[in-house]
Amino acid sequence: LIKGFVFDLDGVITDTARFHYQAWKKVAHDELGIDINPAVNEKLKGVSRMDSLNVILKFGGKENAYTDTEKREFATEKNDLYKSLIKQMTPADILPGISNFLQAITKAGYPMSLASASRNAPFIIERLELGEYFAAIVDPATLSKGKPDPEIFEKAADLIHSPYADTVGLEDAVAGIEGIQRAGMFAVGVGKPEVLGKADILFPDTAHLDLAKIEAAFAEKRK
Ligand code: BG6
Ligand code: MG
Repeated sequence: LIKGFVFDLDGVITDTARFHYQAWKKVAHDELGIDINPAVNEKLKGVSRMDSLNVILKFGGKENAYTDTEKREFATEKNDLYKSLIKQMTPADILPGISNFLQAITKAGYPMSLASASRNAPFIIERLELGEYFAAIVDPATLSKGKPDPEIFEKAADLIHSPYADTVGLEDAVAGIEGIQRAGMFAVGVGKPEVLGKADILFPDTAHLDLAKIEAAFAEKRK
């Protein structure tokens, strides 16, 4: 039986994935002379700030072009831009269907925690006024490895005392689905089959998320 849910934030609960993209696109263009595209953006989803910068530098063939100090400056510039984009967020920015879905999970009695790689996650949850739903938020500063490593999902499940095999994880990123499955959890994907084909169950968008379907697919897989 399901004992708990671990949630990604960016791209699942709210559409901040487009703000991350917008901020990186500008910094990559202005500072690095690299023009990123949606395919590169898929690889940035779920990935930490510094790892995202490294993905962009690799894509542009500039892996060794900058010092660590310069790289930290680019990452800070991106985050400043990102913060200016998210500071106006309100509960109206919660993705369609998410509020109902969180209510259904709460009503069914499953605890929830947040497994977001973002250091801005607590701020966003506060802006969206969703704090009451999450028993815990993993602090990404405590992680030794980022997604696709399972560590963040394991910590999130530990915080709500949910055994990994009884935990359901939700993700919009390839790296996230991999991490959830490597933790031995059941992976719910939100997005396109071309990208998230490995998920245990896939919904095209958040409006289609359905707790009963997840429970049925989970029971089927654990049979
Ligand atoms: C993840 C996003 O949730 O957080 C990534 O999907 C982002 O794109 C990562 O790089 C780190 O976020 P932040 O806010 O700490 O820079
Ligand atoms: Mg995400």
